Amino acid sequence: MATETLRRSGIKELLVATNLDREVLVKGWVRTRRGNKYVQFIALNDGSTIHNLQVVASAELFPEENLKDVATGASVAVRGTLVASQGKGQTVEIQALEITVLGKADPEEYPLQKKGHSLEFLREIAHLRPRTNTFGAVLRVRHALAFAVHEYFNKNGFYYVHTPIITGSDAEGAGQMFRVTTLAPEHPPRTADGSVDFSEDFFGKPTNLTVSGQLEGEIAAMALGKIYTFGPTFRAENSNTARHLAEFWMIEPEMAFYELEDNMDLAEDFLKSLVRYALAHCADDLQFLNDQYDKELLVRLNSVVETEFQRLTYTEAVEILKTAKQKFEFPVGWGTDLQSEHERYLVEKHFKKPVILTDYPKEVKSFYMKLNEDGRTVRAMDVLFPGIGEIIGGSQREEDYTKLITRMAEMHVPAEDLWWYLDLRKFGTAPHSGFGLGFERLVLFVTGMANIRDVIPFPRYPKNAAF
Ligand code: 4AD
Ligand code: MG
Repeated sequence: MATETLRRSGIKELLVATNLDREVLVKGWVRTRRGNKYVQFIALNDGSTIHNLQVVASAELFPEENLKDVATGASVAVRGTLVASQGKGQTVEIQALEITVLGKADPEEYPLQKKGHSLEFLREIAHLRPRTNTFGAVLRVRHALAFAVHEYFNKNGFYYVHTPIITGSDAEGAGQMFRVTTLAPEHPPRTADGSVDFSEDFFGKPTNLTVSGQLEGEIAAMALGKIYTFGPTFRAENSNTARHLAEFWMIEPEMAFYELEDNMDLAEDFLKSLVRYALAHCADDLQFLNDQYDKELLVRLNSVVETEFQRLTYTEAVEILKTAKQKFEFPVGWGTDLQSEHERYLVEKHFKKPVILTDYPKEVKSFYMKLNEDGRTVRAMDVLFPGIGEIIGGSQREEDYTKLITRMAEMHVPAEDLWWYLDLRKFGTAPHSGFGLGFERLVLFVTGMANIRDVIPFPRYPKNAAF
């Protein structure tokens, strides 16, 4: 049969195929070629799975000098017979009949010619690192988790809402914002008093990249009941940590008629369901990551799925931290925000399971969180995960117009910018709640990678926007 009439098969399906001894066509990238003067073995990967397909090229059909371009990194098409493998390590292999090099990769130049590059080095070749086993695994897990997010919400009656990426309100206060402008930085138009004249800007006013879709999400929740957003968010903080990105994806459900308890129940069920999905659908990739990077990974993932999260108040947590034997870099006292060392002590040392902390002092949280009757704390909730710290931040929202406008004044949030947000409290207000899950923090947790820069294809962080 000629190559043209054969339909290409994916390697993932071929590796589990049961109808053997037939001719197949595969295309992919060469991972390795080795062998002797009688036979050459080519490990072929097409990205569909972490596993390679072994192509056997006999010297009779393929003298070694004809295979020179079948080198690590080259893309090839192979026509051959799918047979039960005689060797160890795979159940099927292809006896090659025809090998066509589609794209060469000069071994002298190809950066992935050798294995074992550091993750730091791979960040500098973000255009090639998806071809490594590690990033292939991470990207497939990332895909599966994104799909699971949509599936979970769709199944549970939530509507997906698209909130704007360019925002005219800079009032959320979740972090420093990136400005969006078409004004020339060297010669911006100026008003009579010398300040920049934003009426000449594209939108006729200052605009920024959003830090969160929440406030617009609340608009939708007050109409559709249960909604979620899933989009990119941007924070111009100078946070050079393994947990922060300047551009990250956030999932933000928002639910009318939900109180804090309901919000916590949803967050716990949601997280467990996502981890369960990954365990069920990414077994090979997770096994690879477990063996390669983090021997506790699968144990940890299974334990999160099975364990009830520990729920306690901020005030209770501070009491535990004050009596902890461990020395902290930052002192703990009621009224200060918890540092990641404190969060991780609670999760990893004290409770040894995920923790949901609630009812934080109002001073350390955002203006929109519902004030408790004590007048000092708000109905906030942070979900803390092993190895990660905060993975979710959320709250019940203040639905009372007078209380909200009072909090805004106290926290210097300009009411005139958020007139529409206040309107939600004037017309048919209702208790409602929501939270934000940092998607990369979730991928970090599920893959067991150590640095958030290695779970997004093109990480943005201070002084880095290459690619
Ligand atoms: O706690 P945050 O700032 O909450 C909000 O933005 C709310 N508007 C969410 C809501 O209630 N709808 O951020 C939510 C989550 C954090 O828990 C963390 O997982 C992630 O977003 N996150 C980051 N992830 C990566 N890089 C950063 N710089 C992040 N900042 C927050
Ligand atoms: Mg937070």
